[in-house]
Amino acid sequence: MAAAHGNRSRMRIGFRGVLLFIFFFLDLASLSCAARQPPASRQKLRVHKHLKRLNKPPVKTIQSPDGDTIDCVHISHQPAFDHPFLKDHKIQTRPNYHPEGLYDENKMNTESKQRVDNIHQLWHVNGMCPEDTIPIRRTKEDDVLRASSVKRYGKKKHKSIPVPRNIPKSADPDLDNESGHQHAIAYVEGDRYYGAKATMNVWEPKIQLSNEFSLSQIWILGGSFGQDLNSIEAGWQVSPDLYGDNNTRLFTYWTSDAYQATGCYNLLCSGFIQINNNIAMGASISPVSAFRNSQYDISILVWKDQKEGNWWMQFGNGYVLGYWPSFLFSYLADSASMIEWGGEVVNSEPDGHHTSTQMGSGRFPEEGFGKSSYFRNIQVVDKENNLKAPRDLGTFTEQSNCYDVQTGSNSDWGHYFYYGGPGKNPNCP
Ligand SMILES: *[C@@H]1O[C@H](CO)[C@@H](O)[C@H](O)[C@H]1NC(C)=O
Ligand SMILES: *[C@@H]1O[C@H](CO)[C@@H](O)[C@H](O)[C@H]1NC(C)=O
Repeated sequence: MAAAHGNRSRMRIGFRGVLLFIFFFLDLASLSCAARQPPASRQKLRVHKHLKRLNKPPVKTIQSPDGDTIDCVHISHQPAFDHPFLKDHKIQTRPNYHPEGLYDENKMNTESKQRVDNIHQLWHVNGMCPEDTIPIRRTKEDDVLRASSVKRYGKKKHKSIPVPRNIPKSADPDLDNESGHQHAIAYVEGDRYYGAKATMNVWEPKIQLSNEFSLSQIWILGGSFGQDLNSIEAGWQVSPDLYGDNNTRLFTYWTSDAYQATGCYNLLCSGFIQINNNIAMGASISPVSAFRNSQYDISILVWKDQKEGNWWMQFGNGYVLGYWPSFLFSYLADSASMIEWGGEVVNSEPDGHHTSTQMGSGRFPEEGFGKSSYFRNIQVVDKENNLKAPRDLGTFTEQSNCYDVQTGSNSDWGHYFYYGGPGKNPNCP
């Protein structure tokens, strides 16, 4: 009996011992696993942590026909509020000033009745986001993995600002060479600007290599072209690396240090505070213009609320998307010193030739309406908060044989320009 009992208790101890040993072994194994984790799985962990930071828990989710997932996130849970300076921020539900008087009550009523918006975002066909939420394009693992690093995901490469030749270039001589970025733009400088507006023709330019992009946008610039350049940017882009497809997408960008540490596209970092539940940044816009066929354009207005200091953005005739808080910026906390409108393409010179990535419609300005792409009714906002025609509009392009720009003005389109081109061609080898 005693022996049997003893055996059993020895057996029990033995069993526990084995269990303990297994746990101990597992623990050691997992420890050494963590220490010697292969780079691939450490990378995966970083990616997942980043995705968790970016993708806030949604109130509702909408699948878009283009493969995007749109999360309707409560307005107070958006990425901006991860910023330590915004912990106690009271969301501004409307700007104090609007250059077009949109917030005059009478005007607002007529605007909303007469609003005709031909362009919409693809995901709208499958639903809308409820009030008090904002639509956010969900970032997928593949999106982050296409970036050169987790840290660079959602950021523009350094030095992609067009610096017109006659602008005195300061501190950074590297900015002289645009490291493969090509532009065709119109610009104003030499005054204090409090915003800019334009109606931009929308196309779907062909991209030769997936690490290249083609975009058309407004730049609101503050400071010199040194390491502390401030920029607010908005427009449309085709960027296979950023989005994983060739769709034309609405985007915004901001930086307060010349694309180094601060800023990002869309809502991919803390900064922009969105208040609108209809428009998702980074989502596809459709339809787009077709050669010798229907033309579509979008209006973008960016302006400074001179009372609160915030920079607001409006899309179309009445979608006030939200604002960049003043504290994000140094120079732009006061006003902009330069405004640029136009196109930008990355030329990675595949096989030693100029890229065939298109800018705009891929056609030169001479071809005109229905063929070439345009910006029309370009305006700036002055100190008195009025929209005004730009004075002394300049133009700039690095290689006019590849992409070009031509300005004009008439009563219908105010100040306008045609821009773009095919890139590689017999005159741009
Ligand atoms: C600018 O870059 C191009 C292509 O990378 C190069 O061929 C050219 O020499 C550079 N120009 C200057 C002024 O550094
Ligand atoms: C984008 O377009 C290029 C050709 O311009 C094509 O090679 C590529 O497969 C397309 N990418 C996607 C994701 O559709």
